[in-house]
Amino acid sequence: LPDAVFGARRNSAGLDLTDPVAFGAVNAARETFCKTQWLATPLPVAEASSETTPVINPADPTDIVGHVVSASAAGVTAAISAAVASKWPQTAVGTRAEVLRKTADLYEANRAELFALLAREAGKSWADAVAEVREAVDFLRYYAAEAETKPLAAARGPFVAISPWNFPLAIFSGQIAAALVAGNPVVAKPAPQTPLIAFRAVQLMHEAGIPTDAIQLMPGGPDVGTALTSDARIAGVAFTGSLPTAHRIDRAMAEHVDAKAPLIAETGGLNAMIVDSTALPEQAVRDIIASAFQSAGQRCSALRVLYVQEDAAERTVEMLKGAMDELTLGNPWDLATDIGPIIDEPARKKIQSYVDVNKAKVIHAMKAPTSGTFVAPTVVKVGGIGEIPEEIFGPVLHVATFKADELDSVIDAINASGYGLTFGMHTRISSRVKKVSAAVHAGNIYVNRNQIGAVVGSQPFGGEGLSGTGPKAGGPHYVARFTSGHSGLQAA
Ligand code: SER
Repeated sequence: LPDAVFGARRNSAGLDLTDPVAFGAVNAARETFCKTQWLATPLPVAEASSETTPVINPADPTDIVGHVVSASAAGVTAAISAAVASKWPQTAVGTRAEVLRKTADLYEANRAELFALLAREAGKSWADAVAEVREAVDFLRYYAAEAETKPLAAARGPFVAISPWNFPLAIFSGQIAAALVAGNPVVAKPAPQTPLIAFRAVQLMHEAGIPTDAIQLMPGGPDVGTALTSDARIAGVAFTGSLPTAHRIDRAMAEHVDAKAPLIAETGGLNAMIVDSTALPEQAVRDIIASAFQSAGQRCSALRVLYVQEDAAERTVEMLKGAMDELTLGNPWDLATDIGPIIDEPARKKIQSYVDVNKAKVIHAMKAPTSGTFVAPTVVKVGGIGEIPEEIFGPVLHVATFKADELDSVIDAINASGYGLTFGMHTRISSRVKKVSAAVHAGNIYVNRNQIGAVVGSQPFGGEGLSGTGPKAGGPHYVARFTSGHSGLQAA
């Protein structure tokens, strides 16, 4: 895109995995991290604790990636007191933007270690790990540029950032970057499954010059989240995760927190794709595979329900089965791996029991490795258009067929779920693209391509309805939501 669109900012180039020199260098460096054991503690104050919890590699139960010390209730209170007293809101916008850009540079300089953590702690394949570091870097630089180039209202005050395990670096960094650049001190709670990469990220933020009272880390489970979100002194919460947790946070804030403090939530989706009989089957199948199974289906954007027009259904499903059989499941360290593990054993059990209960409706399934928390990519047939399956956060794709005159019923079924995150469509009829995109409730609509991997700055990401409060991450309205919305005392 021309400078007029991106200005001086460019998205990160990432890493070309087919370039033997560039890949070789990173791979050699990453090898040095294959035996490292990291330790995550609250930051900046590492509370003394005799209790550490091991963090296990989901692809290999014998690999201990590190240990985590959770924050205590007293630690949470002290962290919020430090955030309240922080001078961060008085720093100049240019200084805030500069330290975010410095953090982005440090992420790039340390990418081999971050790739290793993404693989061993979060089960990310090489392609997913590269995309994730790139997205994190893009968030940091994009929000820095946003704050510098647009009028910015006053900061709100201490923000709590609660992030998910499925993008333990990108979403973690994006929430923090937006809150910080708007002038808010942040107390961040990473997902309990992925505290180690969060700890390294915060260390790099401190190294980049972000003061230790402006970004603090509170590892822990739901009790730490509850302590943070029910502290009356917080000025807002940024949350990405499940809908029930978003509701819990909303209730906790309603009880204790100033009514003006926003909850900026990104939740789930029951994302659909429509493939009609004019679609190119090879292209549709390639995009169905990526949308439903990449990252083992553990993306909020992932395809959950595929609606195929009846006269194209047989060939599409046959090709889909063939393409699934070509996928490689396994250790994310291996460059040949397409699909890594499920994040942990409770999640694996939940997905697998759904598949087991629906065994009679399974029309195709791969084989999963027996060691590690793997679930085989599986296709489940849906009885009829009106049957709305639940959101299964894994590699399970539901397929329904529709007749030529049933398109409106498909749209009604998609909207009836109440979610509205991503939607995909494969067709060669442009009037249909227009009609369906206007009728389907979804934040991100993709036509004749896959429906995952929104790009910061050019594809702002976020949903409507049960999928989130908005504004979209990586888009032009996001940073403003972290400000008071009216011009106050603006740092120079
Ligand atoms: N931003 C991610 C995607 O677009 C979220 O899951 O895939």
